[in-house]
Amino acid sequence: MTDLFAPLTVGDVLLRNRVVMAPLTRMRATAPGDLPNDLMVEYYRQRAGAGLIISEGTQISPIGKGYMDTPGIHSEPQVAGWRAVTEAVHADGGRIAAQLWHVGRVSHESFHQGALPVSASALPYRNRTTVRGEDGQPTRVDCPTPRALTLAEIAETIGDYRRATQNARDAGFDLVEIHGAHGYLLHQFTSTTSNHRDDEYGGSVENRARIVLEVVDAAIDAWEPSRVGIRISPFGSFNGLTETPDGESMALFLAAEFTARGLGFLHLSEPDWAGGPTVDDEFRRRLRDTYDGVIIGAGNYDPEKAERLLAAGLIDAAAFGRAFIANPDLPERLRTGAELNPPNPSTFYGGGEIGYTDYPTLVG
Ligand code: FNR
Repeated sequence: MTDLFAPLTVGDVLLRNRVVMAPLTRMRATAPGDLPNDLMVEYYRQRAGAGLIISEGTQISPIGKGYMDTPGIHSEPQVAGWRAVTEAVHADGGRIAAQLWHVGRVSHESFHQGALPVSASALPYRNRTTVRGEDGQPTRVDCPTPRALTLAEIAETIGDYRRATQNARDAGFDLVEIHGAHGYLLHQFTSTTSNHRDDEYGGSVENRARIVLEVVDAAIDAWEPSRVGIRISPFGSFNGLTETPDGESMALFLAAEFTARGLGFLHLSEPDWAGGPTVDDEFRRRLRDTYDGVIIGAGNYDPEKAERLLAAGLIDAAAFGRAFIANPDLPERLRTGAELNPPNPSTFYGGGEIGYTDYPTLVG
């Protein structure tokens, strides 16, 4: 019987178990330069027991940044910083994917020398992000109304994803995960609430999905289909992007296209941990019938939920977010039924080692 501790392959990448570390923004990169640093190496090394670590959201370009102290993967020094992370994870037998991130409108002028963030359309919306305040500390601010990307800029953005995939490969990552979820750029294109374009990137499901598939194709071109995965969140409301009526048909349209391309994995972010609805098994079944690669489920998973969905054949692996923040040795704790350390939300974003690399393991 398949359980959380059975190995799994994504293409030719062997995962030693099915306990995945969810992508987690922790805002501890080095400024200036948005560089991965030694503290991040230690944090990921501690969590190498995961079947697969998915990195925190990592911007593919300067304009793709939307929060203070998040790392990038568009410059040489960033690639060198990530190489130290992947080497540490590999030395402990782990596997790691880079989450490729463009925040789109979830950003602020202060990151872009006063220029506006970009999106599918220039629509006012309500949301906040985190910038460095005058005292150097994280400060919450309103996001401005973005400007719409031109067709030439969409082509450039796709090129940025291609280069970021190449960089991830050069940095020693095992896989890339395209961030298509949570109200960020790609989701801003697929959703009718944020995309009012009247060109080939707006309107029908096919048109709104176009940029996502062009990004996927660019990533495949830079590597190969089995090395590329994508995260989607068809339900719920994230970052000022409210639930859309055709979220499910968009997800299934995309899933069929991912199957046609032989994509390595599809990561479903479920929204009930953030106040959204619970995903039902009928949708899971339709997704399974439409997409033939590895499916990772995330959002409010515990071992019971994970084992139930694995046994039903509806997922292949389960990702854990907050539990991995607080428990570097989470797979071992789940395997032995040990107690879990509780996470401290006040140290999730920004700061140093406190609440980052100082959570205790079972053995010293
Ligand atoms: C997140 N999440 C998230 N998702 C993502 O796709 N990219 C990211 O960079 C982040 N960053 C992030 C930071 C923090 C502090 C939290 C708590 C969450 C969402 C995360 O991957 C996961 O879907 C949720 O945490 C729900 O899973 P759990 O925590 O219920 O296991």
